[in-house]
Amino acid sequence: MGVVAEMADRVIVMREGRMVERGPVTEIFGAPKNAYTRELLAAVPRIGGGAGRVETRKRPIVRNAIPVAEVNGLEVKFGIKTGFFSKVTANVHAVAGVSFQIMPGETLSLVGESGCGKSTTAKAIAGLAPYSGDIVIGGKNMAGRTGAETKALRRDVQMIFQDPFASLDPRMRVGDLVAEPMVIHAIASGRERRERVASLFSRVGLSPDQMDRYPHEFSGGQRQRICIARALALRPKLIIADESVSALDVSVQARVLGLLRELQAEFGIAYLFISHDMAVVENVSDRVAVMYLGQIVETGTRDQIFGDPRHPYTQRLIAAVPQPDPTRRRPAFERSVSEIPSPVRKAGDPPRRHRLVDVGGGHLVAAESQ
Ligand SMILES: Nc1ncnc2c1ncn2[C@@H]1O[C@H](COP(=O)(O)OP(=O)(O)OP(=O)(O)O)[C@@H](O)[C@H]1O
Ligand SMILES: [Mg+2]
Repeated sequence: MGVVAEMADRVIVMREGRMVERGPVTEIFGAPKNAYTRELLAAVPRIGGGAGRVETRKRPIVRNAIPVAEVNGLEVKFGIKTGFFSKVTANVHAVAGVSFQIMPGETLSLVGESGCGKSTTAKAIAGLAPYSGDIVIGGKNMAGRTGAETKALRRDVQMIFQDPFASLDPRMRVGDLVAEPMVIHAIASGRERRERVASLFSRVGLSPDQMDRYPHEFSGGQRQRICIARALALRPKLIIADESVSALDVSVQARVLGLLRELQAEFGIAYLFISHDMAVVENVSDRVAVMYLGQIVETGTRDQIFGDPRHPYTQRLIAAVPQPDPTRRRPAFERSVSEIPSPVRKAGDPPRRHRLVDVGGGHLVAAESQ
């Protein structure tokens, strides 16, 4: 809606195959006549100095507990091979020294431009990418563990991907898809397993009699809820949500975010929330880490980052958020002339690491490179 307010002259609102309202952009946003249009506009997450969030937290975050996950100096690089002997001559430094902790019941958001290394960080934590540095889950370092130990520890960390269709096997019934993690980890069986799947379905707002259907018979929002049910099947301590709501329309997005928040209040689940939508991030986060070219350049509480952004890159990210208000349209898009430098570097020439300086109350900002 922010982009619509910024770009459009006239707007047509559609619902269930019908046009429900049309008019000049200022009228649609300023005085919507249709109830659905109003509902849609009300669901738009707005950026506003941390004011937008409804607090439903029942249990406070315990600051001195063992973190559910901790990464220290995480590095992931992909070799680029060239020449006849396929020698690695350069590396893509996707993640170049990232450190953070996630406490039980907390939401940490990872933000930054496309290609800055967010998904790669998530994949390393979920055990889907080779890395160097430390990944500590529930106080136990993942390095050098046997397959069985890793499997047990990974149970506590589940991932919801951006594209719910690509992550659900189209040939499996959705009930079996939700049960699959329990099958892999040999938890419950027979009727008990089926009952647990049914209760997960109702928990995410789907009806248990839809269990025998196939993924293509659901809408995008419903499929995303199936993925959430699947992630919940093992009662994880941490859920990594990589752009999980980005593809959903604002009203469905608001519902899915509400569901994630409820589950957090109920079960004390921690989230690593990855998104490029700063307005959504402001609404869901406890803490925020801003990533740029494989490194964290600023991190702090939601209020520190949105109320007092210090790093020029964070300031730019926040300023770039399109406002859902056509009267505040910017005259032209301010483009930064400089492209983001490339994460590709010659072999043996690793990127310099930023030094993070505390500017007060645990608000860390990158100083000059070391
Ligand atoms: N398998 C791979 N081989 C080589 N390079 C890769 C591979 N996977 C990712 N990269 C590179 O690593 C960098 C970080 O990618 P990543 O997917 O983590 O970005 P992202 O922050 O998630 O971006 P987006 O917001 O677009 O999802 C990019 O430059 C990408 O091209
Ligand atoms: Mg990504």
